[in-house]
Amino acid sequence: MSDTPVTGTPVAGTPVAGTPRPTVYIETYGCQMNVADSELMYGKLIASGYDAVDVPDGADVILVNTCAIRENAETRVIGRLGELKKYMRPGSIMGVTGCMAQRLGPRVLEQARHVSIVVGPDGYRALPELLDGARRGEKFTATDFDLEEHYEDVVARRFEGVKAWIPVQRGCDYRCTYCIVPTTRGPERSRKLHEVVREVHEVVNQGLTEVVLLGQTVNSYNDGTHDFADLLRAVGAVDGIRRVRYTSPHPNDFSDRVIAAMAEVPTVCEHIHLPMQSGSTSMLKKMLRRYSREDYLACVERMRAAIPGLALTTDIIVGFPSETDDEFADTLSLCQEVRFDDAFMFKFSPREGTPATRMPAEWTIPDELVATRFELLLKTVRGISRENNMRRLGDTVEVLIEKVARDGESLQARSRDFKTIIVPADAGSIGDYLTVKLSGTTGATFMGTPVIAQTERKPLPMMAG
Ligand code: 5AD
Ligand code: SF4
Repeated sequence: MSDTPVTGTPVAGTPVAGTPRPTVYIETYGCQMNVADSELMYGKLIASGYDAVDVPDGADVILVNTCAIRENAETRVIGRLGELKKYMRPGSIMGVTGCMAQRLGPRVLEQARHVSIVVGPDGYRALPELLDGARRGEKFTATDFDLEEHYEDVVARRFEGVKAWIPVQRGCDYRCTYCIVPTTRGPERSRKLHEVVREVHEVVNQGLTEVVLLGQTVNSYNDGTHDFADLLRAVGAVDGIRRVRYTSPHPNDFSDRVIAAMAEVPTVCEHIHLPMQSGSTSMLKKMLRRYSREDYLACVERMRAAIPGLALTTDIIVGFPSETDDEFADTLSLCQEVRFDDAFMFKFSPREGTPATRMPAEWTIPDELVATRFELLLKTVRGISRENNMRRLGDTVEVLIEKVARDGESLQARSRDFKTIIVPADAGSIGDYLTVKLSGTTGATFMGTPVIAQTERKPLPMMAG
């Protein structure tokens, strides 16, 4: 990290010999797409003469890459912007990027006077120039959509040790009535298949063996010539790739071709995160999810019939406007029927401008009732997950060691079906594949005892710093 902030000089382009490279710190909130976007921003700025740093203290540029999906995500960021102010030195620049930047635009500049640039998800290419302008004391909001923008020529700076997040599609053409994403990320567009495959080759060359394909409704991927089944087959066949995952699909876009590709490509993992949102057909209709409870169940059955050992996780919203006790009971019963391995559960959060906010005021579910339902759902989902996991004890699975576990000593690994497994510190190193026996469970995570070491260790990419 450079000690001296560079002020009053342009920072884009090749740094002048003898001049310290300006530093950039990016803090990321929200989904994996934001993580991938932050890696692109780092890549763009490093190519423009910056150094990445992993603490905000004294950084020349602090960017906060934000989420707008629920109100609490935004409240947190507003608070954090205030906190980060104390790390700024004279000449430092603070920027806000991502979905909240896109949603609020110039309003961010009014709410946080120390912020100089507000940049939406399609504007990151211009970051070096915007920062140059900010250095001259100007303020900018860049929130135009660019439907051609996939940042193809920007080399992402990856910090994750073993897997690569790869956006394959941006934006969303669904219009779920609760969701702000179509407003913040614009219409759906897919990258060309050959560009994705090129990036996967690069990732392999960096020593990574797992890729996660990202899109808001990733299985509706279509580049004009190829669909998501083609993409899975092409990515899954890249030499050196051992695991392919993707998130998040929409139940309506699971064609037989996609399911067949999942079943037939050995590198595609046996796990699908399949957002359900509600188990009640009438709720799903009001959410404009475009499927019924029965359609969702039929989708699950087709997948399970084709893919043995498939793990399923989901997203569920509690307290959507007008949700009755019976409709909520339908959500509980669908969880019991599907027996999800895990779920992300959310209390409905009204987002300005979405159709849900125009529903009759008397449809609003009181906070206490939402909280009660939420607790019940949590208990149900956790209970099922625990039962599923108990049944797995004694199984032998292949795991990939991802990182040091929370105890600071053991290692945290993942199975192909997305279970978290803690293995002893001497079991191997980050990036290794091992075969372990599931020897214990807390109900949520497993303890694994190594059986045989499967492969030698792959070289790891450079880490942050
Ligand atoms: N309120 C609560 N949860 C929401 N999600 C999206 N929008 C909202 C909202 N307004 C949830 C959905 C989605 C996940 C990413 O976030 O479950 O699948
Ligand atoms: Fe939002 Fe629905 Fe699009 Fe998902 S599919 S991003 S929930 S509008």
